[in-house]
Amino acid sequence: MNDFESARDEFKALKNMVYLNWAGLGPLPSSAKIAVEELLKNIYEWDNQYVSEAISSLQDGAKGQIAKLLNTSPDQIAITGTNTTQGIQTAFEAIRPKSGESIVTSDMQYVLTEAELQKWRDRGVDIKVVKNRDGVYDLNDFQRAVDKTTRAVFVDSVTWINGYKFDVPELSKIAHENNAFMITDSIQHLGQAKMDVEKSGADLVAGSAQKWLSDWLGLGFLYVRRKVIEELERPYYGYKNTEEPDGGWHTYFTLTDREQFPEFKFYSSDARKFEYGGSLYNMPGLTALEKTLKLINGIGMDRVQRRVLELKHELLEGLEALDFEVLEPYEEKHQSGITTFRMGVGRKKEMEVVEKLNSTGYAISYRAGGGLYGIRVSTHYVNNSDDIQSLLGALKSLRAKAGVKRN
Ligand SMILES: Cc1ncc(COP(=O)(O)O)c(C=O)c1O
Repeated sequence: MNDFESARDEFKALKNMVYLNWAGLGPLPSSAKIAVEELLKNIYEWDNQYVSEAISSLQDGAKGQIAKLLNTSPDQIAITGTNTTQGIQTAFEAIRPKSGESIVTSDMQYVLTEAELQKWRDRGVDIKVVKNRDGVYDLNDFQRAVDKTTRAVFVDSVTWINGYKFDVPELSKIAHENNAFMITDSIQHLGQAKMDVEKSGADLVAGSAQKWLSDWLGLGFLYVRRKVIEELERPYYGYKNTEEPDGGWHTYFTLTDREQFPEFKFYSSDARKFEYGGSLYNMPGLTALEKTLKLINGIGMDRVQRRVLELKHELLEGLEALDFEVLEPYEEKHQSGITTFRMGVGRKKEMEVVEKLNSTGYAISYRAGGGLYGIRVSTHYVNNSDDIQSLLGALKSLRAKAGVKRN
């Protein structure tokens, strides 16, 4: 078995069905399932030693793997709850735009980060939206939108609608030339396409584990560039970003002469500054993520990305042979594992096709946004040619049933 086959072997879901919905949610591999079961057993039986060490060891393990994925250091990674939205909210609270300033974004942003932008719009921040042109973006449009009022440029570095991959280094240059921050929502990027955050120029990169990192238990994180950590606001105050008092928390909790409002010291020079809440993280999520990332990092993002695109190109060839309309950025540097297309039978029938496929063992989805819509298929490194050919065969026969006979 080669590396890809043995990684595939860990996914029971891929044995049960043709799973091509990683842009939706990602099933767990067996190594993650086993580790989470071990965690639950230790909590259930209360292994004191295990439990007292778990918080820091699980956190360090997962942060180390996230840092490896992003080619950065763990001290620039904050754990931000269970999802991307919390990372994005943290990023905006950290840059804290003021009334009269602007945010430049795209028209294919994920719907629920639009809610965060609405908050800032309600506070007098101008939200400028750059439109796609037939599924692709022109950097000149961003150049024109960014000016001295811009507090940040904010994009989904791979869009959830058609998988367009932004040239983040070039976009960062535009932002930085205007003293603006570069923020990305990279949940659709990380794990399937390479992102070297140090070279990307991005200042804040939010991600989460439930899709391409195949950890549906949920774990959100935020990369914060070291250079900007000190100048950003501390969004929250709590256990996680407060320095331990002399002698550690355990001693502190026993002090009878403890002051009611002491001068707490807060982390200020690493990404813990942006963490929030009490003592626990999502422990199952951390446990699973360390394992799922070991699989991806073990193979290496260069090879993972090549495999994802190889499968995508096989899919594209098949879609072209079926004469389907692909909403695709055909320049390879903008391509990702997400492929969106129309069958030429109308939106309603296409949605019925997706429903039919979902009920017969194919995981795919239908998405619309930025004036685009279509069937969304996402290919990951653990898929194979059989998955692609099986889907293409099913699409061909369902199109024939939908009454359009071509090829
Ligand atoms: C671009 C993008 N951002 C964020 C999310 C999910 O956000 P959260 O992790 O907060 O649920 C999705 C899910 O579809 C997405 O496509």
